[in-house]
Amino acid sequence: MTYIDILKSKSECNIVVLTGAGISAESGIKTFRDGNGLWENHKVEDVATPEGFAANPSLVYKFYNERRAQLLSGEVHPNPAHIALAELEKALKSNIWIVTQNVDNLHERAGNQNVIHMHGELASAKCAVTNQAQNWVAELNASDRCHCCSPGTPLRPNIVWFGEIPYNMEKIETLLFDADLFVSIGTSGNVYPAAGFVSFANQCNAYTLELNLEPSNGQTQFAESRQGPASELIPEFVSNCLKYL
Ligand code: OAD
Repeated sequence: MTYIDILKSKSECNIVVLTGAGISAESGIKTFRDGNGLWENHKVEDVATPEGFAANPSLVYKFYNERRAQLLSGEVHPNPAHIALAELEKALKSNIWIVTQNVDNLHERAGNQNVIHMHGELASAKCAVTNQAQNWVAELNASDRCHCCSPGTPLRPNIVWFGEIPYNMEKIETLLFDADLFVSIGTSGNVYPAAGFVSFANQCNAYTLELNLEPSNGQTQFAESRQGPASELIPEFVSNCLKYL
């Protein structure tokens, strides 16, 4: 059996797509764990933990400022994988959700609206006290203050760091509970809770499909796993969805 048999058997199909850094690699954004990835050149504990931020806020602001600047530079664009998923949402409307670990905004720029950023967003900053988020496209520095406190307190990148709880977990669990098809794209399966979604989706009787450049850590848990670049695999997947759904 393949996912195509599932598509053929359903008149309506609830799809949950989990995306990771691999879907944005062909847009020029570095992944974390591939050769020359972000974690090869930076220590996770320095730039992606609350303790690292407390110890050296300037380093952490700089790390995310550079990534935000690249994302918004005009050099980075959605690639065929993002664009195909946006076409699928246009066709299926409320029956597809993208749960992304990515902090870029390429799904939205491609046209997806049903997007959950479980690890936060680069183009956003949040109050370190109330957690209230606001759009942020400029450089972020220690002197920037929130508008929700009086006097304003320092803002921090709106990124979920290691040791913090990802956003919207209840909503994600509800979506997985109702899913007919769970598709994991461009993620190595190293970071929980996202790495555990395949097991939860299996328990909820969804068909589970992995589309990744190489087998992920959790590959054996998927009903089906296909390897290749996202810019090829995702347009093919979407064209089959549009054909059979
Ligand atoms: P990783 O860097 O761990 O994994 C990226 C995956 O994408 C790898 O399995 C690659 O084989 C695959 N890949 C690379 N290029 C690809 C391409 N063109 N097409 C398809 N697949 C490709 O990134 P994530 O799994 O997203 O968290 O990492 C998860 C989390 O770890 C991130 O959200 C981040 C990080 O620490 C936080 O910062 C909180």
